[in-house]
Parts: sequence; C-alpha cells; structure tokens
Amino acid sequence: MSDTSSQTLDNLLAEDRTFPPSAEFAAQANLQAEAYERAAADPDAFWAEQANRLSWSTPFSTVLDWSDAPHAKWFADGKLNVAYNCVDRHVEAGNGETVAIHWEGEPGDTRTITYAQLQVEVAKTANALSSLGLQAGDRVAIYLPMIPEAIFSMLACARLGLAHSVVFAGFSAEALRSRIGDAQARLVITADGQYRRGTAVPLKNAVDEAVAADDSPVENVLVVRRTGLDIAWTGKDLWWDELVDGQGEQHTPEAFDAEQPLFILYTSGTTGKPKGILHTSGGYLTQAAYTHWAVFDYKPGDVYWCTADIGWVTGHSYIVYGPLANGATEVIYEGTPNSPHEGRHWEIINKYGVSIYYTAPTLIRTFMKWGADIPAKYDLGSLRVLGSVGEPINPEAWMWYRLHVGHDRCPIVDTWWQTETGAIMISPLPGVTASKPGSAMTPLPGISATIVNDEGVPVGKGEGGYLVVDRPWPSMLRTIFGDDERYRDTYWSRFASHGYYFAGDGAKYDSDGALWLLGRVDDVMNVSGHRISTTEVESALVSHESVAEAAVVGAADEMTGQGIVAFVILRGATDSADTEALVETLKKHVAKEIGPIAKPKRILVVPELPKTRSGKIMRRLLRDIAENRAVGDATTLQDSNVLNLISSGLSGGK
Ligand code: WTA
Repeated sequence: MSDTSSQTLDNLLAEDRTFPPSAEFAAQANLQAEAYERAAADPDAFWAEQANRLSWSTPFSTVLDWSDAPHAKWFADGKLNVAYNCVDRHVEAGNGETVAIHWEGEPGDTRTITYAQLQVEVAKTANALSSLGLQAGDRVAIYLPMIPEAIFSMLACARLGLAHSVVFAGFSAEALRSRIGDAQARLVITADGQYRRGTAVPLKNAVDEAVAADDSPVENVLVVRRTGLDIAWTGKDLWWDELVDGQGEQHTPEAFDAEQPLFILYTSGTTGKPKGILHTSGGYLTQAAYTHWAVFDYKPGDVYWCTADIGWVTGHSYIVYGPLANGATEVIYEGTPNSPHEGRHWEIINKYGVSIYYTAPTLIRTFMKWGADIPAKYDLGSLRVLGSVGEPINPEAWMWYRLHVGHDRCPIVDTWWQTETGAIMISPLPGVTASKPGSAMTPLPGISATIVNDEGVPVGKGEGGYLVVDRPWPSMLRTIFGDDERYRDTYWSRFASHGYYFAGDGAKYDSDGALWLLGRVDDVMNVSGHRISTTEVESALVSHESVAEAAVVGAADEMTGQGIVAFVILRGATDSADTEALVETLKKHVAKEIGPIAKPKRILVVPELPKTRSGKIMRRLLRDIAENRAVGDATTLQDSNVLNLISSGLSGGK
C-alpha cells in the first residue's frame, strides 16, 4: 500500500466518533438487534421468513441448494411472478390508489403513477412485447433515460420471463453493440433522445449504429418519444405510443421457477470485456425487498428516493425491484442535480416530502463543493434516513451529510454491495447500529462476510485483508452469462479450498471490530461510483491509430474518488503542439468507444512504460507518478532508466 493511502487509513481507523440512533428511532425500527443472532443460528429459517414477504404461486419447500456449488439455487421448487409481486398484489390488497412513482422530468414535467396505473402500463407493455413474438427466456436490451417507460419495460420483461439487459444510456454505441451481441438480445427499447443538463440530446442514433450489422440479433427497436428530436427511421423501428398505447389493459401473469433468469447486467472486470452478471428471480427479489425494508426502515407512508440511474445495479434493486416489491411510494428524477439550479435535489425532497434519501459519496462531495448554504435554504424536515452507496465514503463527506442534510438527526446507512451481490450485504441497521463516519460496520442479519489474509485465514481486530462472503446469499449472481468458466475463475478460484466468494475489495477491521472498505484490489477503477476496468480503457486507447501502447491507472481524486490517468506511447514522433491536440482527440476517442464516464482525466504521453522483466506493466509506479508521489520500490523494473525518461518527458506535460 502506498504511503498516502496508509496514512489516510490510519486516520480512518482512529475514527472514534459514533452515532447511535435516537431512542425514538430505535424503538420504532423495523429490524432489531435480535435479528443478528436469530439469523446466524438458523440462516435457512431466516431467509425462508424473508422470502415469505413475497407472494408465491407455488410455495417453496427447500431454501438453499448448494449441492452444485458455486451455483446456488434458492427456493428452487417455488414459483412466482416478479412483476405480480411488484405491482398487482398491491392493487389486490386494496392499495391501487397508493402512489408508486412520483416522476419528475428534468424540464419540470411530472407524472404521478399509482399502483393501479402501473398495473395497466405494465400489462400493456407486456402485451406489446408478446405481440412481437418474444417468449420467456429471450433477452431484451433496454437503453433508456430515467423515464417511467424504463420501469414499465423492466417489469413487463419480468412479467413475461424475459431477461432484460439494461444498458446505461450514457454508454456508447459500441458498448451497446457488444452487450447486445453478448446477450443476443432480440429487441432494444430506447427513446428518441434524452434531457441532459437542460438540453435534448440524441440517443436513438447510437442504437442505429449498434444494430446496423447484418448479423445483429436485434429484430425490433421500440422507440419512446421523449424529446421530439428528429431521428432516422429504419425497418426495425416501432414507436412506443403506436405499439403499446393501443394494447389491452389486462394481462395474466404466468408463474415462473424461482431460478428463472430475471436480468443480465454488464459490469467491468479485470479484462477488457465486460461481464454479464446473471440474476434470477425468487432469491434476488427476496433480498432486494428484505434489505429495502430493513436497511432503510421503509414503512407505509414513507416517501423514498434513490438517486441512482436504472443503468446500474442500484437502480435495479433500489428503484425498481426492492421498493416496488414493498409497495413503496418513491420519487424518480430524470435529470442532473444542478438542472436548472444546484438546489434541485433539496427542492424535490421538499416538494414530495421525501423521508428516505439514498445517494452516492461523489454526489455528496459535489454538494459540499457547492456549499452548505444551498440545502440550508430548503425545509428538509421530512427526512428520516440517509443512505450512501458506490464507493467508500470519506468521514468528512459523511459528517457533512449528517449535519447539513440530516440535521444531525437522521441515521446514515453506508451500504456495501456489488452488481454481483444483487443487494445490500454490509451496512449499519438504522435503528440498531452506532455508526462510525466512513465505516459500513457489519454484515446484515442473514449475511456472513469476513476479512481474510492471503492464505484465506480470517484476520482479527485491527487487521486487514480481502473481503470474502463465506455463505451463499439469496441475491447472489448465478453465473456470468455465456461464460461460466470466467464466473468460477473470477469469484471462486482465489479461495477455492475455503469455498469463499472473493469480492475483489480490500477491507479492514478497526479495534472495535467495525468493518472498513478500502477499495478494489484488482485492476478495476471506481470513478464517481462507476466501475471501469483499466484494461477496457487501455483497449480503447490502443484502438486509436496513433497509439502504440497504453497503461491506465486510477489516481486518487478528491471529487470522483478515483480519476482515470492514462500513459500512452505514440506511434512515430509528434511535436508538442500536435501532442496537445492529440491528447484531446484521444480523450474523445475513449468517450466514443466506451462512454463519457470512461474519458481519462489526464493523458500523459511518455517514451516508455515501466515493466517488470516478464513484461508486466508496473501500475503501482505509474500510480505514484499520477498521484505526484515519490516513486516507490522499483527494484523489479526491467529498465531502471525508464522512470527518469518518463519524469523528464512529463515536465511541463499536462
Ligand atoms: C464499491 C454498486 C465502499 C466496491 C452497488 C464494490 C463500495 C464496487 C461501497 C461495486 C461502499 C460499493 N463502501 N465501497 N458502501 N459500495 N462499493 O458493482 O469496490 O457498481 O466492489 O455496485 O463498488 O460496484 P457496483
């Protein structure tokens, strides 16, 4: 570990402020401390109890079947319909008039959707998808902004047993194409455009590019009218309003096996090719619903808002499946936090009386930069629970959130989980835990996670190592779509003899036994809470004709957690004026290849890269350079002069 990060770590672990819930909050909390012991004593019974939050059309008789490890089956002989659980049963229970979604468009247009209306929209969408010939087991790609049709589409897929693959609408045509190809999606659902910071920007053109090839598996593209932008039209295209609006409003849900695939979601791994994380139905929905209820203390009457995008797993589990399974009322906001002004989130909280607010540390740091006087202008008295997810939250940001948003009153839940885990795994319980600023604290009741050393031996208080999960959990990924070997290699080979799930995160226990996450231990960067692999960005760079070789590192960044810094060796010589222009071109090239979120913050043109004798790039040294630190131990370098070459070339570089 580098000097600066171990120093930061020492500061973190000296954190001795704790924030217990108030007596009033503790007394009314959904889940109490007894749950930890009860769940540990009989995990299967505990999870069966959680699964019975759902409505099963055929009850399950088995809980966990781990006989084919590492492939779990949960509630395997039970049958259910996920969309029925998220929509219809609430209407049947007499809650049809309860608002499911308060939708707030970026330009200020709004839609209020009750559970009864949601049922109609999902039924019509399901009828439309069936009319296109789609059948249970098929895959559908969803490439949409944060509009209600995105939720209707996901739930319609779930209703029909189609697996959706939501692709973040900020990803490029190329990223969309490869995801469509990997999943062999038959349909893409998109929009004519999307609003970004007050302007309508094109979206459907990326789909045209992604499905253009003769061998594209896509048969149809369903297009929602959102912005009214002029768009090109192809023989595959259908307007949403023309196909969906006229459909029948009734649809009878079919019951599927608990292990019916529900969705594939692509996430970055250590190689260039994103992994299609496969989630199934019964176990996933059980844990999404349980955690939404327990971690956010959700109760009828709450107004819940998760600020994620449905393109990420947080949007899947905590905008769509968890809250809707619980019959919650939630806010969904289409746009950016500073459109049209920097108080937009606080204005929305005030407008709808939001009581539970779940966001990411990078946004909290942005709010800090904009100034505490902005939230101070709004009445935030409705808030009662605050959540954080996506990356370690630094204690300063945690305290700011606590004081300026939660008014020193609301518990903060710092929730650790991953696309692969499907739902929250490690988090305080808001009515139980005395939280420390920056620590995710403890695995939830029902979850067993621990920190081990290189040999797989659990470490003690005050020690660090790798985070592992040592017992299967209901919402765990089932495999990597189409690549089971990669599934075994990535998650189960590192501690194979112990049978541990390897999360890829470093972690440490402090002297009280609280758990602190320390970031990834592999070549995955975390930029504003988004996972991007170094190799993915490197491949994008070397795909440009002027780049001979590239090495990418994530360098500590105050706002975004990590920032992408690329070192490139050019083909042939360029003078410095050309280099500057080329650096800009390369940044744009990466944004085009992957998406703007992967755009390097800095690109440094260098004559050589530091490599070991076996030819492996020494990223650790590059990270030292990128973070302006004295370069660490370089004794395994193949050519010791290379660092001088890089440093001299960089003087004056940007
Ligand atoms: C990181 C997002 C520290 C971690 C739900 C993990 C966190 C990766 C936290 C998963 C947290 C997420 N504290 N680190 N509370 N939450 N991470 O798949 O490195 O987009 O492995 O899932 O984000 O990112 P993913």
